[in-house]
Amino acid sequence: MIKIAPSILAANLVDIKEEVELVDKNGAEFIHIDVMDGHYVPNITFGPNIVKSLRPITKKVLDVHLMISPVAKYIDNFINAGADIISFHPEADQKSTEIIKIIKSNNCKAGIAIHPKINISDIAKYLDAIDLVIVMTVVPGFGGQKFMESEVAKIIELKKIKNEKKLNFEIEIDGGINNETAKICKTNGADVLVAGSYIFSKNKDEYKNLIDSLR
Ligand code: DX5
Ligand code: ZN
Repeated sequence: MIKIAPSILAANLVDIKEEVELVDKNGAEFIHIDVMDGHYVPNITFGPNIVKSLRPITKKVLDVHLMISPVAKYIDNFINAGADIISFHPEADQKSTEIIKIIKSNNCKAGIAIHPKINISDIAKYLDAIDLVIVMTVVPGFGGQKFMESEVAKIIELKKIKNEKKLNFEIEIDGGINNETAKICKTNGADVLVAGSYIFSKNKDEYKNLIDSLR
């Protein structure tokens, strides 16, 4: 079954503990944490401290999406903070292979995130070494943007490679997910759906229905 990864980028940060506990209780499998540095993307969000703060309040998978450049020098901090999966954009650092090795040798899962301007052929060499691929269906940097249909071809391409080469990575879709775009992703091979504003911009008593409506 498809996994749901609420993105706390859209959560009410004054109530972050309650927000995470609510999506946890209502069935979310992952908690998606968008780390932005104001350099790789034109926005600044969280650092390892938020991962460390959330670790004791949920047993769900802490799914850290790094939108930072460089990457390598910060990896240990996210591992030590308690991340379960760390994904990064390979064009943001020249040491991608080494970064994947460091993450995996620390009992953590490694992922690659694909910016809309990056082709699958550019990241294909990492696919047998990683656990997750994030297909970005918006230009990274902000929540609440419109789903880019043009990126669906990448989901299809990844699913084909995964089947042909019998690889194990999960395909996660990130950006503009709602009950309609979720359907497109699911029929084309998605394993995990990130959803920020679709869930957290609504009333707390709707979270369960909203999460269920993505499955
Ligand atoms: C965008 C982030 C996304 C974002 C998705 O740069 O990587 O994870 O939180 O937000 P929505 O679901 O509102 O598009
Ligand atoms: Zn993200």
